[in-house]
Amino acid sequence: IKLLSVASEIYPLIKTGGLADVAGALPGALAGQGVQVRTLVPGYPAVIARLGKAKAVRRYDALFGAGASVLAATVDGLDLLVLDAPDFFAREGGPYGDHGGNDWADNWRRFAALSRAGADIAADGMKGWRPDIVHVHDWQAAMTAAYMRFGPAAQVPKVVTIHNLAFQGRFSAGIFPDLGLPPEAWGVDGVEYYGGTGYLKAGLVSADAITTVSPSYAQEIRSPVHGMGLDGLINGRVDRLHGILNGVDTDIWNPAIDSLIAKPYSLRAPGGRAVNRRALERRFGLDHDGAPIFIIVSRLTWQKGMDLMIDAAEHLVAMGGKLAVLGSGDHPLEGALLGAADRHRGRIGVQIGYDEPLSHLMQAGGDAILIPSRFEPCGLTQLYALRYGCVPVVARVGGLADTVIDANEAAVGAGAATGIVFTPSDPMALHGAINRLIDLFGDKAAWPAMQRAGMRADFSWPHSAAKYADLYRALIAEAA
Ligand code: ADP
Ligand code: GLC
Repeated sequence: IKLLSVASEIYPLIKTGGLADVAGALPGALAGQGVQVRTLVPGYPAVIARLGKAKAVRRYDALFGAGASVLAATVDGLDLLVLDAPDFFAREGGPYGDHGGNDWADNWRRFAALSRAGADIAADGMKGWRPDIVHVHDWQAAMTAAYMRFGPAAQVPKVVTIHNLAFQGRFSAGIFPDLGLPPEAWGVDGVEYYGGTGYLKAGLVSADAITTVSPSYAQEIRSPVHGMGLDGLINGRVDRLHGILNGVDTDIWNPAIDSLIAKPYSLRAPGGRAVNRRALERRFGLDHDGAPIFIIVSRLTWQKGMDLMIDAAEHLVAMGGKLAVLGSGDHPLEGALLGAADRHRGRIGVQIGYDEPLSHLMQAGGDAILIPSRFEPCGLTQLYALRYGCVPVVARVGGLADTVIDANEAAVGAGAATGIVFTPSDPMALHGAINRLIDLFGDKAAWPAMQRAGMRADFSWPHSAAKYADLYRALIAEAA
């Protein structure tokens, strides 16, 4: 099977979150299933810089008014197709906005251009390569499915994956005439969404299959609470909806071979963990004592429940714990966490920013990771934590509920527990979860058993990649 993937981020070239990890790992995992993936990504400066030898496989005099070409290149084992359109992508800042966190005003055009290029490749292929199926990720790529459906590639099956329903790509109705879609694409069965234009919505109505990144989230988005306005549409298409869990890229996240941590270790030889723990204390200026170290590696946002941490940090310190935070996001939250670190030198350390290597050391040296998300389509940091023997303390939502086994009496007795699962995502329940973790940390039998059970849990990609491959085969057969 030849598959065209379209994504706005891909690890290790450009990443703001889990989407990049998934887009970067899935091609390798699918190769094992006989699926050959090429990934179309925007030509951001960070991507262009890594291209090396590239070949132009498609040229546009004017793609949404800009000169553009599609470059084919292999980077870090990934077969990439890069939309080189300097007017759209050659900018300082992040993939979606400037350094100040303001979205680019022309995002509608930038990602319509990406999607249009995806649909064109689906329709025409390129020399010696034509996709049998197209798989696109999130709102930034979702319009690919709409362009295909209303264009010449209508018969090629299309899969749209929802990584986060909170980001929908909603724009004004006024852009529609510029999208280059036929008039019949405007309507409830097309791109029109509550009187505006909805990119994700357009993808969801156009897709042959909709997937999301955990079974629980696939259920949750059918309800108004988590459906964010799209629950009606999704319920109407449940026969097309699949929840397929993300995996861990074990080439990158494996404590036995991780060059970004202070000392490698494994289930059989766990001794190195103490060295990482000490390195983490030093890095964050934490006291060197026997108290449990909680870590946070996260976007600092409401989705992640990070506002709950302001109060929970005080509680955690009062209970004798320590806290190391790595994250960036909402400025008031950043300030509040830095304030807590100032008040509790030696007990709380905070680093604001994005630091991939440090995130590895934290998983390797932390005793527990706190993830009090209000919703979580899958979540990857709890999966990395499990593998690294850092016990997850998670809210019972989405992929967190699907991947962590709560340390209730029965699960602890059976040696099955891998973490703490609490509900709801509120201050009281979070305080209770912190208390439970601290108690368990002091239990010399239960604690190491729980760490080991987590490290043994297998959330690697092959299992999920097989599910995607089955889905692709079914859709290709259906279209034939
Ligand atoms: P989301 O995609 O919603 O942010 P995930 O848990 O799926 O959540 O993925 C987050 C990814 O981003 C993980 O790979 C995590 O390690 C990484 N990450 C998040 N914040 C930071 C940070 N400040 N520094 C380094 N890595 C981070
Ligand atoms: C989104 C979700 C996260 C998920 C990631 C990758 O960013 O917020 O839960 O793990 O996508 O699918």
